[in-house]
Amino acid sequence: MTAPVLTLDGPSGSGKGTISIRLAELLGWHYLDSGALYRLIGLLAFRNAISLEDEEAIATLAAGMKVEFTGANVILEGRAVGDEIRTEQIGNMASRVAALPKVRNSLLGWQRRTAQPPGLVADGRDMGTVVFPSAECKIFLTASAQARAERRFNQLRLKGFDVTIRQLFEEISERDRRDAERKTSPLTPAKDALIIDATELSIEQVEQEVLSHLKTSGIAAPG
Ligand code: C5P
Repeated sequence: MTAPVLTLDGPSGSGKGTISIRLAELLGWHYLDSGALYRLIGLLAFRNAISLEDEEAIATLAAGMKVEFTGANVILEGRAVGDEIRTEQIGNMASRVAALPKVRNSLLGWQRRTAQPPGLVADGRDMGTVVFPSAECKIFLTASAQARAERRFNQLRLKGFDVTIRQLFEEISERDRRDAERKTSPLTPAKDALIIDATELSIEQVEQEVLSHLKTSGIAAPG
């Protein structure tokens, strides 16, 4: 059975996670947080003391991972993961394992099977380019590195993490560079994606732009 897919790609801290969750709730659609998959693999590699250079071992780990999403919650092997995967340390490990082609390949089928009726909001870096190339509606959400560092700072402080804007700016810039320069599925907008620069926009404004693009893509959106 086919289901409409809305892809939201972009660099870290662009607000695509927040927007995706809100839209999935509003539309009553499923939500795929693909970044969480790479974060989980980073976490599992760390827990099992597997070198991030060992592509075979990490791809095997990825293929055997039992993961589920219930709304915005990530369940690994039957247990909720919580904020353990949201640290910048795990984000950096995620971007290193995400550069391994075999690891990306082993997640493709699983990700595609999440496109179930009534629809899917897919959040990531390569949703519109590689995982769902024929998605009905594609968005690429970006913002200046400074604005993204500030947004991540506010998010992480709310979760109780001890971080500074400067440290986040450096980590985000490093992660962006690695995501954009990797050979397999680099971070780049799909040719048919609408690019939204959220530097000066509120979450509500971005949400309205995405909803009106959904409508022009022929998908009935509320409001
Ligand atoms: O979106 P999030 O910050 O949770 O993603 C963590 C890392 O996972 C990213 O920096 C990126 O390297 C990787 N990722 C990816 N492809 C995706 C989603 C995330 O390579 N579709």
